[in-house]
Amino acid sequence: MHGTPEPWRVKSIEPIRLISPEERARAIRSAGYNVFRLRSEDVFVDLLTDSGTSAMSADQWSGIQGGDEAYAGARNWDHFESAIRDITGFPFVIPVHQGRGAETVYTRAFVESGDLVLGNLHFDTTRAHIRNRGAAPVDVVIDEGLDPDDLSPFKGNVDLAKAERVVAAHPGKVHLFVLTLTSNTNGGQPVSLANARQVAAFCKQRGITLVIDAARFAENAFLVSEREPGQIGRSVRDIARDFFDLADGAAMSAKKDALVNIGGFLALRRQQDFDACRPWAILYEGFVTYGGMAGRDLEAVARGLVEGMDEEYLAARIRQVRFLHGLVSDIGIPVVRPPGGHSVVIDAAAFLPHLPRERFPAESLTAALYEAGGVRGVGLGGLAFAEPDPETGELRLAPWEYLRLAIPRRVYTDNHLAYVAGVLAGVWAKREEIEGLRLVEAPSELPHFSAVFEPAGR
Ligand SMILES: Cc1ncc(COP(=O)(O)O)c(C=O)c1O
Repeated sequence: MHGTPEPWRVKSIEPIRLISPEERARAIRSAGYNVFRLRSEDVFVDLLTDSGTSAMSADQWSGIQGGDEAYAGARNWDHFESAIRDITGFPFVIPVHQGRGAETVYTRAFVESGDLVLGNLHFDTTRAHIRNRGAAPVDVVIDEGLDPDDLSPFKGNVDLAKAERVVAAHPGKVHLFVLTLTSNTNGGQPVSLANARQVAAFCKQRGITLVIDAARFAENAFLVSEREPGQIGRSVRDIARDFFDLADGAAMSAKKDALVNIGGFLALRRQQDFDACRPWAILYEGFVTYGGMAGRDLEAVARGLVEGMDEEYLAARIRQVRFLHGLVSDIGIPVVRPPGGHSVVIDAAAFLPHLPRERFPAESLTAALYEAGGVRGVGLGGLAFAEPDPETGELRLAPWEYLRLAIPRRVYTDNHLAYVAGVLAGVWAKREEIEGLRLVEAPSELPHFSAVFEPAGR
């Protein structure tokens, strides 16, 4: 027994199959060495993302049967709205089909062309939405957050001095701050409540709107309850509420901590913000009592939000992330430390020091891992966070090369994760043989989703 076991038992299963090494080699080749282009049926253990991949509970599935599919005012909307009001305290709730739907709406209301939008570490879709408004995303995470070996407990925290420098250098150009809980980009590193309080005070003094990206708010609150002085032992619900109380709004991809396969919301404190967002929500997402979701989806979110804050569930979830992290670091593989809330992140540049940046170490390692054992992670490296050069339009690679193994919620057993570690050990042993990739084609925005590569040879 190595910690809290899962507070649930398995009721239905879905078969998975490990296809042969030859079939895997064929599959990755025809996917252009980009795992987003693989067929799910060709994947054995799928750690591409923790987004929309959760196993729902019997209670969520039974709620789905009670879906009210009216265009307006479905009873599931009432459940959805009151669950969100109750947890967040925000009076105005706008449903959206997923996290980026909320980004579409709030960036239209809060971001103007030429603005700079501050954030601890903006995620890829957030960055793209900000740029899509003619504005620039600016990361002001603490330096420790970008150092894979630093063991600070809150590597999602904001460096207020950096934020201050941006505001001072660009007077009148900063109207929005997005605080992401936990920070996905560096592996689910949490933000402390003390730091969030400082961010809120900073924003208030300067008239900056503060939006929490709440995709993983419950995992963040759990980590705070474990390690932040003054918060230890407090309930996840109370800590989460303290975070929401600091902000002007929250955007959530419910596909993460609300344990659903689709859905999200934007919740707001001020009437004028709701008025500014509502027309965009109706235009892009759907009427304001469904927002691109079916009635049944609204119900699954309402129930999943509550389940996602269950502390026994969260303890088992975080323990499983740490289990994989421990196995991988015991092999000697360079990983981002300490383990975060939802994923294990491997430093691909340190894993493959013989590959230069233009050979895409993150994507090369991701393809090699798939080929070795049918395990799908995702390269979140220079390419995923590349930005088009404003003058030439050419892609400028971001400074890190990570392979992220995101663990879906309530889906895999420890045996699956031990298998993943075993495959990784084999790849590590033969790391010098891994050839890099050459980029054949990629769009300038969100390039990693559809990039095509070919082996670069030796
Ligand atoms: C922190 C964060 N914000 C926003 C999003 C976008 O959410 P979605 O994929 O539901 O559009 C994601 C997705 O991974 C995320 O991790």
